[in-house]
Amino acid sequence: MHYKNILLALVFMSFLFNCKEEDKLTKDVLIIPQPLEQTINKGEFILNSSTGINYDENFKISAEFLKVFIEEGSNIKLQSNNMISFIKDESLADEGYTLEILPESIIIKAKTDQGAFYAVQSLRQLLPPEFEDGTVEENEIAIPSVTIKDKPQFSYRGMHLDVGRHMFSVDFIKKYIDALAMLKMNTFHWHLTEDQGWRIEIKKYPKLQEIAAFRNETLIGHYSDQPHQFDGKKYGGYYTQGEIKEVVAYAQKRFVTIIPEIELPGHSQAAIAAYPEFGCTGEQVEVATKWGVFEDIYCPKEETFAFLEDVLDEVLALFPSEYIHIGGDEAPKTRWSNCEHCQTLIKKEGLKGEHELQSYFISKIEKYLNSKGRQIIGWDEILEGGLAPNATVMSWRGINGAIEAAKQHHNVIMTPTSHCYFDYYQSENENEPIAIGGFLPLEKVYSFNPIPEELNEEEAKYVLGVQGNIWTEYMKTSEHVEYMAFPRILAMSEVVWSKTENKNYPDFVKRIENFHKRLDALNINYANHLFEIEGELISDESGLSYPLQTLTEGNTIRFTLDGSEPTVYSEAYTKPITITESVSIKASVFNLEEKLGNTFSQDINLHKAVGKTITINKEPHKSYPGSGAKGLVNGISGSDSRYGDKEWLGFWGDDIKITIDLGEETEINSIETRFHNGNGQWIYTPTEIEFEFENETKHLKIPESKENLVDIALDVKIKTKIITLKIANYGIIPKGKQGAGNKAWTFIDEIIVN
Ligand code: ACM
Ligand code: ZN
Repeated sequence: MHYKNILLALVFMSFLFNCKEEDKLTKDVLIIPQPLEQTINKGEFILNSSTGINYDENFKISAEFLKVFIEEGSNIKLQSNNMISFIKDESLADEGYTLEILPESIIIKAKTDQGAFYAVQSLRQLLPPEFEDGTVEENEIAIPSVTIKDKPQFSYRGMHLDVGRHMFSVDFIKKYIDALAMLKMNTFHWHLTEDQGWRIEIKKYPKLQEIAAFRNETLIGHYSDQPHQFDGKKYGGYYTQGEIKEVVAYAQKRFVTIIPEIELPGHSQAAIAAYPEFGCTGEQVEVATKWGVFEDIYCPKEETFAFLEDVLDEVLALFPSEYIHIGGDEAPKTRWSNCEHCQTLIKKEGLKGEHELQSYFISKIEKYLNSKGRQIIGWDEILEGGLAPNATVMSWRGINGAIEAAKQHHNVIMTPTSHCYFDYYQSENENEPIAIGGFLPLEKVYSFNPIPEELNEEEAKYVLGVQGNIWTEYMKTSEHVEYMAFPRILAMSEVVWSKTENKNYPDFVKRIENFHKRLDALNINYANHLFEIEGELISDESGLSYPLQTLTEGNTIRFTLDGSEPTVYSEAYTKPITITESVSIKASVFNLEEKLGNTFSQDINLHKAVGKTITINKEPHKSYPGSGAKGLVNGISGSDSRYGDKEWLGFWGDDIKITIDLGEETEINSIETRFHNGNGQWIYTPTEIEFEFENETKHLKIPESKENLVDIALDVKIKTKIITLKIANYGIIPKGKQGAGNKAWTFIDEIIVN
């Protein structure tokens, strides 16, 4: 070879080599939540026992966290030198930081210890996951050289946990707080009181411990399963004040603020079971043994306020948080309507009914807490009857509460059920553990944009941040809580920390896949749905087809069409499956040797309306769009339990008119569809449907049902091109039902025409 060619080859090889090296390092910088800016440098920092750490009082918590993390995670003992240094930089945002990893040093700059703590969390994710469980064997660890400049998008980055329905150990609460801190979340909303159990020791009221903390038994199975059955076992407990102090101190060392929630005036049946005199009737009730909303709520009497102020005094002594959550949600007004004291109070105070009485209640509590230097947060029902003057609103029934509150210049925290309720199903797989209902897959959490479009720039400033909620009716164990929390909490951390414009779901998925090893080391029981498959029926000029896709790269989808289980020998998916008749598709993701995830199954029922033109006079609700109108005639029925999946369309309070154009006069014999009827989730089947054909109209009455799903069928013998369905919404949820007074939802599935 001519020497010039040799030179060229050498240059080319060194180019390849450099690329490889950079590729490897790029792969290693996979941080969750995604930092604002990261630049990969050349080379690496070697962490070993000659590495030292230097910090002063300003960075005591963050630097000591790092020291303990390294020394407990490995055999490396840190010296006292400047190789890892913490430097105060007043120009940075309060929670921001820069992290500069160079071959010779690591420099962390921050304005606050909290900012430096987040730099440490990023650095932690650049260390091997074996540090998490102390199994590092190497004496030298290479850390990729990188410069990170980072700060959060939102100041409120929260996770909630309901310990009323089921209670979890102090150790687990600490583990949960650890996870929040690792993900740069800064608020733990501890939901401490419920109808089914009071979980915080209040020394002045011993019956809260003796009576309110225990229920006689617990509902078995789902609330919708009729008739209700119970386990006959006493259940309960509470956190002592000593334990709470320990948890608060633990959280402080991780820059997590704990906001305690003491529910009022509703969700208070356990307290009323202990002290019936604080209810309207004075009658003995029991600590609730099933889920839902209960009518026995606090009566706004002087004695009740004295009790609540005493309780709050003890709460304030335990929790230094600026905010105290006072609940405010789901307080049925039945007892107040029938209570002489409440009615007299309404008249005396010149209030317009029970909603204003609730405002009066909340405002009185707010005044008390403000006088102690604290602020209140309440669920969005506190808007009804007028907001207390300084209240922050937690918007859970969609985002309208947030819009209304922000327009009134009140702070808001976004936690709409549609994107933030981690008690909903996260997979369409039928083997998922029982959940309350709904469907909130990882991607939907990730897609959440916390700033409602309806707010202008000025109003948007009132959005403090977002919170994921974990209601535990159906979670008896901490492992189950972890399963529901992870990986959705990872998506939430990115929603609240990372810049919305920079979010990229495929990139996030890669980082999650990498993060699994860390979660394993942390012994966190995460759900793994990364190897699941999704499909979609496509109708175009060339007919009907069904493409499949999966999230991760580098594996093969294999499928069958005869109902059999796919194996490594099944046909490899290369192009959309052509659909010419009803089929049953099964598919799975495989690497070279084995199946990686669950089997995906999809029946396609090729009825007469599949792929035809469909219009609806109303858009489905933004939170439950399914796959749009065409999803009602795609041959695919929705899940039996997950009303928020791609197939169900949700409408909130709207009457709807659906028109299907079959393209030509077609002989039809029947029209079938079904409605979700999850009354616990405010979803109701309509009472009537009107069917219109070209020359004929038919009415179908739908009887009330206790079933969760209601199938309806109209038998007709008719030739028609156009089918119209007029479906009236159920209306306002009646008294005595969950969500009474709110608009009902309509959820409709596939419209099957034969
Ligand atoms: C709520 O989910 N009841 C706030
Ligand atoms: Zn009353």
